[in-house]
Amino acid sequence: MNRARLGLPFARPCIRRRISALANGRPSYLEILGDRYPTDSITNLTPAILAKVPLRLHTRPSHPLNTLRGLIESHYSDFTHLSSLSPLVSPYKNFDELSFPQDHPGRAVTDSYYVNKDLMLRTHTSAHEVEVFRRGEDKWLLTADVYRRDEIDGSHYPIFHQMEGARIFAADATGMREVAEDNARLRHRLAQAPIVIEDVPHLAPTNPPQATHDPAYAALVAENLKLSLNSLMLTLFGGQAGVGGGAPLRVRWIEAYFPFTSPSFEVEVFFRGKWLEILGSGVVRQATLDTANVPNKIGWAFGLGLERIAMILYSIPDIRLFWSTDERFISQFTDKEITTFQPYSKYPSCFKDVSFWTAQGLDLHENDFCDVVRDVAGDLVEDVKKIDSFVHPKTNRTSLCYRINYRSMDRSLSNEEANDIQAQVVSRLEEQFGVEIR
Ligand code: DAH
Repeated sequence: MNRARLGLPFARPCIRRRISALANGRPSYLEILGDRYPTDSITNLTPAILAKVPLRLHTRPSHPLNTLRGLIESHYSDFTHLSSLSPLVSPYKNFDELSFPQDHPGRAVTDSYYVNKDLMLRTHTSAHEVEVFRRGEDKWLLTADVYRRDEIDGSHYPIFHQMEGARIFAADATGMREVAEDNARLRHRLAQAPIVIEDVPHLAPTNPPQATHDPAYAALVAENLKLSLNSLMLTLFGGQAGVGGGAPLRVRWIEAYFPFTSPSFEVEVFFRGKWLEILGSGVVRQATLDTANVPNKIGWAFGLGLERIAMILYSIPDIRLFWSTDERFISQFTDKEITTFQPYSKYPSCFKDVSFWTAQGLDLHENDFCDVVRDVAGDLVEDVKKIDSFVHPKTNRTSLCYRINYRSMDRSLSNEEANDIQAQVVSRLEEQFGVEIR
């Protein structure tokens, strides 16, 4: 299961000791979206990431991410649509307000970008749930850029875009009548559509209702969530389904776990021969609604990763392409239209290896390594793989070897240029992490 691509959080189980990436040369403040913020010992935001914060791809006319957002917004046309909330949030808002445990790996500096200990770049759009519910919004969609430190390959990028959707109802007989009526309407519509759904129970001992919820209410709300999202899947992927005897769309529901929902589910869609993870969802934890000052409501939420879906719908093979400024990429797309990406020539790769001993007693996290490479090489890095790792039995030092694949999407990269970038990567590793090149 590829959690990072979908935007699902933090599968990595361990929090390792971090070596400060900016230890000595750290600036005293960072300027982000026109304001200055003090740094501290946990600051790990790099210039490469900072430079992309203002770009907001999901708002650029004719950009695939913007078109996809528009498609989902028109599906949920009676929801409030939000897309301009600042990516700077407190860790409290990103994690605590959503009942993330104190030791959750997503909080680690190896996994998230921190401006300082009180301010970070949101890792998911769920970070705004409390705020939006508090405004009194009952049904809303929010699109935003989100940030996670991660490995480097064709489907991972430290910035991606998510859409959060939510709907809440009065937690009483009147609210439940509204849910039941909506369920009947959606059920009727789906019964006539070319879609086959593999379901799981709305509630189960392994996916229970919350203690404060009437199980009958929780089941109705979970059903509403499923019907609503099945209908969205039909909008997104059902284009050819059933047409002229074509196969119906297949959607499957899977039990899941998120700190801020129960019951929780993931949705997968069978598309072009493969099951694809599309989103995470569930019945919103009552604690979230209590904090938002709407304790008498009950409802659902979902979060989906836009790049993942756009790569499938447009046949875009590399996640870096979304950031391309090459005319051959940009000029291919028309506003509000999903078209198949026409690949232009792929330029040759240039592989470079680097082997080193880490500093005594220190472990170098792969995400720290990748941020150095990204910072030096920008989007000229396509892939980074750890190809060797061992601990010397006598000295107890760790030896690591990484293979970096440099490739430009827009032009031919010369071997000299790649050597030059590699040399900069090596010296940054020596300076920042005290590694010894082998
Ligand atoms: N925020 C989650 C993520 O980034 C996705 C998600 C799961 C959002 C369940 C939700 C939800 O609203 O109910 O991985």
